[in-house]
Amino acid sequence: MTLRHFLDVDDLSSAELAATLDLAEQADPPRVLAGRGVALLFEKPSLRTRNATEMAVVQLGGHPVSLRAEEVDVDVREPAADAARVLSRYHAAIGARVFEHAKLERMAAGSSVPVVNLLSEDAHPCQALADLLTLRQGWRSFAGRSVAWIGDGNNVCRSLVLAAALAGVAVRVATPAGFALPKPVVRRARHLGGDVLVTNRPEEAAEGADAVATDVWASMGQEAEADRRKLAFAGFGVDEALMARAAPEAVFLHCLPAHRGDEVSADVIDGPRSVVWQQAENRMHATRGLLLFLMRAHE
Ligand code: CP
Ligand code: NVA
Repeated sequence: MTLRHFLDVDDLSSAELAATLDLAEQADPPRVLAGRGVALLFEKPSLRTRNATEMAVVQLGGHPVSLRAEEVDVDVREPAADAARVLSRYHAAIGARVFEHAKLERMAAGSSVPVVNLLSEDAHPCQALADLLTLRQGWRSFAGRSVAWIGDGNNVCRSLVLAAALAGVAVRVATPAGFALPKPVVRRARHLGGDVLVTNRPEEAAEGADAVATDVWASMGQEAEADRRKLAFAGFGVDEALMARAAPEAVFLHCLPAHRGDEVSADVIDGPRSVVWQQAENRMHATRGLLLFLMRAHE
């Protein structure tokens, strides 16, 4: 029995990532959570992650218990490690969406069941699994493929870069000055064998790419910076002109929620190259695959 956590994508090896994507597509998945619970703690709003994860748990025969942070007040009412220690007496796994990434590490330290990152300021690994699953469904194979990221070097970008590195997909990241992908993440991705280009020019990143991805310019918790960020990100919106630089069959990815007219134009996100709804559905399939992987490891 091995206790495995999933705090970022590179908690999985390349082979484990491929196995998780295969499990995500397994027809008639085994009900490994029959009679068991999964606790899901949310410090921030969520539409996709809560619904996708709850339904993934149900499809594996389990019972999800979602909690808003104010009901639990982790680190105020009791330390994160204590809360996880208690939750792991009731549940087969714990998921948490938090501000501070280190809080997940403190939860993992106390937990005797897998802890899954449902988004932190540093990472959104469950999203990256769904992104790769969506790309693989279109491409069949990752070999020789590339993805361009246009916008903020944020949590979603960081996990996608690491996931791409593990999958052997080249990544081209274009951010405005001051919003770059952190250098330690670039180093981590390259250490995994990743082909990573960083630039301040969206056109350079998009050139010939097989997929173009973006996310909001102000993430949850950054609402007060929204106006300043809108100015800084001028020229980093994904529109038809930018998509025209990508490969002819290139798809458009967005984790959602999206702001049409800011980071993406309506004609791109609502157009024929957009795979965002399939990507959103794949949050559920990818999470089911991840839970199957973690439960098997933990058997
Ligand atoms: N993509 C994503 O994580 O969406 P939610 O914030 O709605 O969960
Ligand atoms: N970067 C965004 C992603 C939302 C799914 C945020 O952290 O708010």
